[in-house]
Amino acid sequence: MSITTTTSLQNAVHEKYLELHGDTPLLVRSPGRVNLIGEHTDYNQGLVLPAAINKNIIVAIGKRDDRHIQLYALDQQESFDAALNALERSPLLWPDYILGVVQQLQQRGHDVGGFNLVFGGDIPQGAGLSSSAALECATGFALNELFDLDISRLDIALAAQAAENEFVGVKCGLMDQFASVFGKEQQLIKLDCADFSYDYIPFNNPDLCIVLFDTQVKHSLASSAYNERREQCERGVALIQQHHQHVKSLRDVTIEQLDEYVKPVDATVYNRCHYVVSEIKRLQDGCEDLKNDDFNAFGQRMFETHDGLQHLYEVSCDELDVLVDLVRDNDAVLGARMMGGGFGGCTINLVKIDQVQNLVDTVIGAYNERTGRTAQAYIANISGGTNVILD
Ligand code: GLA
Repeated sequence: MSITTTTSLQNAVHEKYLELHGDTPLLVRSPGRVNLIGEHTDYNQGLVLPAAINKNIIVAIGKRDDRHIQLYALDQQESFDAALNALERSPLLWPDYILGVVQQLQQRGHDVGGFNLVFGGDIPQGAGLSSSAALECATGFALNELFDLDISRLDIALAAQAAENEFVGVKCGLMDQFASVFGKEQQLIKLDCADFSYDYIPFNNPDLCIVLFDTQVKHSLASSAYNERREQCERGVALIQQHHQHVKSLRDVTIEQLDEYVKPVDATVYNRCHYVVSEIKRLQDGCEDLKNDDFNAFGQRMFETHDGLQHLYEVSCDELDVLVDLVRDNDAVLGARMMGGGFGGCTINLVKIDQVQNLVDTVIGAYNERTGRTAQAYIANISGGTNVILD
């Protein structure tokens, strides 16, 4: 149940690289993430509160003498070749997370040469733990090291996000990539997506832990609905801008402005924007709770976030709602909500550590009764961000 990247994964990636290419590779790891509060706020210039977890993508990389890229995915046991001067989307999907980053670095004027890359990971895929961001960030970080490109951590995260926006086609915000690159052990990252300033907030209460319940579903509308939500937020901003030109994003907007200019025009856009404006405030209040060690109050806000995501932003699904409802009145759980983009993946739960096993057994049993599905449970430990693995 606990989340640990084993050295065996690292060894498997390393050995596969040696088998395919022979030379000694550079090894880089980049983690998945959780987010405590602040959901769908990043692309609205709001705040987020993610942390890197000890589940990783590991990349082995080495230079080639020509202008080719040769990729191998250990989990899928698939390879893919590309030419540096003709990057295009692949039918396999996973190469896009790597090729998109290469393209972004090229567009930023960096001299990326030919390379071989093998990767593997233990971040559950489709679970909303950002395995794709981890792959993008591991790639960016590894290319930076291999070709001495002198790119900052922030620019690696931004290039990874742009790869996902432009090459993969999901208009995500910066949260996942930033958390992967900037993660720190036992620290949450309070990131302000308006100007990329950030603070670390300690998260080391010995009585509590973070439990993820994985619905084991990923509904197919996830990425189209995600892009649609983003457009709806932009529409809300445009309606207010007609009256207040200084307003550039929902970060600058008040509930009163939404009531006045959006509510009479479009009820759906109003609901979306109402959720986002409330969530930005909720995160700020939640950070005060953490400062005061008031985890009960923080947990209540997590439930409120879920309610907003379920009813106003409408990115939840039956399976996620069942998992949250199952813990609402459980004394072991201080707070719970769906996490990430939505339409499947995991709930995040703040749990009393001495009651974890009991809780997991109860929830998995009841979820199975209600949905016929088998949920997975993971304990997420907060870990460090992207780094080179030294032998
Ligand atoms: C996905 C995106 C993030 C963020 C979350 C929702 O994980 O990649 O940028 O928008 O959804 O908070």
